[in-house]
Formats: sequence, C-alpha cells, structure tokens
Amino acid sequence: MEDRIKELEDRLARAESALERSERLAVASRYASAIMHEVNNPLEAITNLVYLTKLQKEQPDLVFENMNVIEDQLKTLGRVTSQALTFHREQQTAKEIDLVEIAESALKLHSDKLLRHGVVVSRRYRGPARATVFGSEILQVVSNLILNAVDVLEDGKGHICVSVKRCPDCIHITVTDNGPGIPEGFASRLFEPYVTSKASGTGLGLWLSSRIIAKHGGTLRFRTSRTGGRTGTTFRINLPQSG
Ligand SMILES: Nc1ncnc2c1ncn2[C@@H]1O[C@H](COP(=O)(O)OP(=O)(O)O)[C@@H](O)[C@H]1O
Ligand SMILES: [Mg+2]
Repeated sequence: MEDRIKELEDRLARAESALERSERLAVASRYASAIMHEVNNPLEAITNLVYLTKLQKEQPDLVFENMNVIEDQLKTLGRVTSQALTFHREQQTAKEIDLVEIAESALKLHSDKLLRHGVVVSRRYRGPARATVFGSEILQVVSNLILNAVDVLEDGKGHICVSVKRCPDCIHITVTDNGPGIPEGFASRLFEPYVTSKASGTGLGLWLSSRIIAKHGGTLRFRTSRTGGRTGTTFRINLPQSG
C-alpha cells in the first residue's frame, strides 16, 4: 500500500513538472512572437534604406543621412534583443531587477491584445522598485494576471490598472480589472490546478503563478467584487524586498 502511494506521488510530481514546462513553453512562444513583431519593423526600415542608399551612392549627403537613420534603427534592435535576453535567458540565480520594468514588459508583451479588445490601461508606479527575483518567472505571473483580466473584460469597456509599490520591507504588484468579478464558490479553488471557467482554459495559470510567488517567499492574493455598480478583481503579488 505504501509503495503504491509512493508510486502515485512520484507520478503526480512528474506530471506537475511536465505541466510547468508546457506553461513555460507557451509563455516563451507568446514572447517570441511579440519580439519578432518588434524586430521586424526596424529590419524592414533598414532593408529599404540600404536599397535606397545604393541608388543614391553618388550623393554623399543623402548616404550620410540614411546611415544615421540606419544607426538609430540598429540601436532600437539592440534594445529589443537585450531586453529579451534579460528576461529569457535561463536564469540560474535570482537577480536584482526593477519590478516596474517587468510590469512594463508584460504590458508591452500584450499591447496588441489589449488594443484589440479596447482595454484602457493605467499605471501607478512610484519610482523604481528593485527586488531580487527570477525575472522571467515574475514576468510570467504578471502576464498571466493581465491575460486573465483581458479574458473577462467586455470589448471596449475594460480597464486594467497595473501598480508597483514599494513598502518598507516588501513590494506589491497589483493588477486590477473592472470585470465581472470571480463567482463565489469558485473563488476558494482558484489556485488549484485545472480550475477554469473557460472553454479552452487550462486552469493552470494561477496555480503555477502562486507556486512561482511562493518560491520567491511572497504571496499571491486577490479581492473581488460582484455587487453594486463597481465590480472587478484585484490580484496582488507581495514580494520581499531585496537588501
Ligand atoms: N481577473 C479575473 N476576473 C474574473 N475571473 C478570473 C480572473 N482571473 C482568473 N479568473 C478565473 O480563474 C480561473 C482560473 O484562471 P487560470 O488559473 O489562469 O486558468 P485559465 O486562465 O486557463 O482559466 C479562470 O478561468 C477564471 O474563471
Ligand atoms: Mg489564465
């Protein structure tokens, strides 16, 4: 009997880590397509300018001007890739990083989707908020929270507020939406795996997010309201401050 339980526990642990890997992969592929998008514009500009410059080779002024624009575009490319590397290199140890940067990256990552659904985004940052974290993991959590919010918002009526606040010994990141709120009964099981209200949901986002935050020594909590004129939900990540 004990052997059987041990075997089932092992299997469960293996299944859990396979799930974690697949969620990570899904995030990485979303990230990759956002990066492609950002790399593509400057690349196209450079391609056109090189073509143009060849035609204008007898006019040094124009060549020089084109080179300046190309230089700017290359700088943009450099920024995109170095930002991507900061977050997506497999990180062996936690590093000190400004959580405002992470919040901004998450918003940027989903800017297309937010725009498509007519979501108004507001930000509340009070200066940098540095903490020692695994950047890509926190990015993944904030991403999940933003995507969950977008999923429940009505097109053209949604509002999301992202805030990053430093307290004496911790940092909060909150994601607030004016969606319908979380149904009672459902709310108590939100952080369990496979709990989803979506036809194509996995129910793994919040489960994985709470594990990531726990690993950082923090907490992930929410408040939700379904009554009155002001419905909505706030998820709050609490992280211990570095130092
Ligand atoms: N901001 C939110 N407002 C309302 N419900 C939410 C919100 N965030 C999460 N939920 C509920 O929690 C469920 C679980 O979320 P999650 O674990 O990310 O899985 P999934 O997004 O795949 O359904 C969602 O299906 C949804 O019902
Ligand atoms: Mg989700």
